[in-house]
Amino acid sequence: MSASLRPHERAVTAPDRQDAALWFIGQIHTPWADRSDCPRKGDPVNGPLCRIALDPLWSEALLGVEDKDHLQILYWLHQSRRDVVQQNPNFGDRAIGTFALRSPLRPNPIASSTVRLERIAGTDLFVRGLDCVTGTPLVDIKPVFCCDESSERRHG
Ligand SMILES: C[S@@+](CC[C@H](N)C(=O)[O-])C[C@H]1O[C@@H](n2cnc3c(N)ncnc32)[C@H](O)[C@@H]1O
Repeated sequence: MSASLRPHERAVTAPDRQDAALWFIGQIHTPWADRSDCPRKGDPVNGPLCRIALDPLWSEALLGVEDKDHLQILYWLHQSRRDVVQQNPNFGDRAIGTFALRSPLRPNPIASSTVRLERIAGTDLFVRGLDCVTGTPLVDIKPVFCCDESSERRHG
């Protein structure tokens, strides 16, 4: 997925070795087919309804998720290049280090968004607040304690 670099941007030769084997646990379905159509940041209030299709293998892990108002979704930005260390996100006159940005271009292109959970149907979670292209692999689902204090008190 190599795209050309912008002025001031720098890339390195990425290592061959891979240390972790992730299991993608599902897929995210959104209205956006292309990266350029996605919002830069999801909107959990006014964003469009998106469907997180969890692999049924993990269905038992959803126990209790229905009580949560908000979730943290981790996903793998599979169309990102992974070798860029300095970036020029707005075509400015200087570079910014990858770790000072939430850019999708990073050594391990893991993204996270806090989403509002609207409903669950089987292993499909309908949420607002995502910003990825349709078909993006799902890495993890976690509760967001700061937004769910009342349900935390109820369910520990
Ligand atoms: C700026 S990143 C932020 C992701 C996440 N909210 C975060 O903060 O970690 C979101 C952008 O990534 C790009 N993007 C979306 N899905 C992608 C994918 N599957 N692979 C690579 N880039 C993607 C789109 O340009 C989108 O606007």
